[in-house]
Amino acid sequence: MLIRHRPDILPSEITTETLYTQRRQFLARFAAGLGTLALPGLSTSAAATSEKPFASLQSSPLSTRDEKITAQSNVTSYGNFYEFGPDKDSPAKNAHRLRTAPWSVTIDGEVKTPRTYALEDILKWAPLEERIYRMRCVEGWSAVIPWVGIPFSEILKRVEPTGNAKFVEFWSLADPEQMPFVRLPFLDWPYMEAVRLDEARHPLSLLAVGMYGEAMPKQNGAPIRIVFPWKYGFKGAKSIVRIRFVEKQPATVWTKAGPDEYGFYSNVNPDVPHKRWSQSQERRLGEFFKRKTLPFNGYAEQVAGMYAGMDLRKYF
Ligand code: MTE
Repeated sequence: MLIRHRPDILPSEITTETLYTQRRQFLARFAAGLGTLALPGLSTSAAATSEKPFASLQSSPLSTRDEKITAQSNVTSYGNFYEFGPDKDSPAKNAHRLRTAPWSVTIDGEVKTPRTYALEDILKWAPLEERIYRMRCVEGWSAVIPWVGIPFSEILKRVEPTGNAKFVEFWSLADPEQMPFVRLPFLDWPYMEAVRLDEARHPLSLLAVGMYGEAMPKQNGAPIRIVFPWKYGFKGAKSIVRIRFVEKQPATVWTKAGPDEYGFYSNVNPDVPHKRWSQSQERRLGEFFKRKTLPFNGYAEQVAGMYAGMDLRKYF
């Protein structure tokens, strides 16, 4: 993703026993590894190692299975996390500064009871799942990533949005002490992206806490980020500290940065070019040849119905 306005200085709840055990094991490691909350009674005697706490999770039936998974090293070394710098290797170089524990998430706005929750508590709301998703960045690169997380629909069951809630905002942390680039106003910090409530409720929407069987790397949005596999990657806010439900469609970080370049919907669409480049092809990280980009990033069958009757050239 290119930044246009740069300043002079660049910068269920019938949980199967296995899943239940796995979640408790993760919570125990999460607490132990991060040295924060004591979670009494949680067993740490697991087959999974502390480096790969989710290694034994089965991939969900919603996973994409017909594609080669992108090498983990490609996904952790190349990406965008502008709070840590403008270059593709800035996140991997600088995100070690992020303190991921203790971590809390405020869930407010149009919900029955606005509250701030410890991340550990949110993770008790539903079983963790592995979801292998195709991901497509607006800049033309793509990847196939085995995420670990809980379906966002489970969050909605717990927090009970009011009848006024029509959109959901995802706010990233913006702490200049940890994230030096938020001192520079090339984006309107904090990073915030949003979707319609029905999009957030879609079974593919995942609140992710890990990838490749491991806890989320800092550069990929530790400790918690959102993933919408049919949208361009920039909709997936990293290191989320606030989830707000609102009535009106909000201006988001990217619609503010370039309203004619970054639409609110940002569904992957090979037929709608970005203002400055085509979106018809993509290059998988680690591959040489380009491949065709698929409508809704290959998830049309599952998601196209949400946009029935909409002119997707207008609502890009
Ligand atoms: N979230 C925050 N907070 N800051 C960012 O700069 N970049 C977005 C998205 N989420 C970004 C963010 C963009 S442009 C992309 S393509 C994806 O994160 C990249 O995620 P990845 O590095 O895990 O692939």
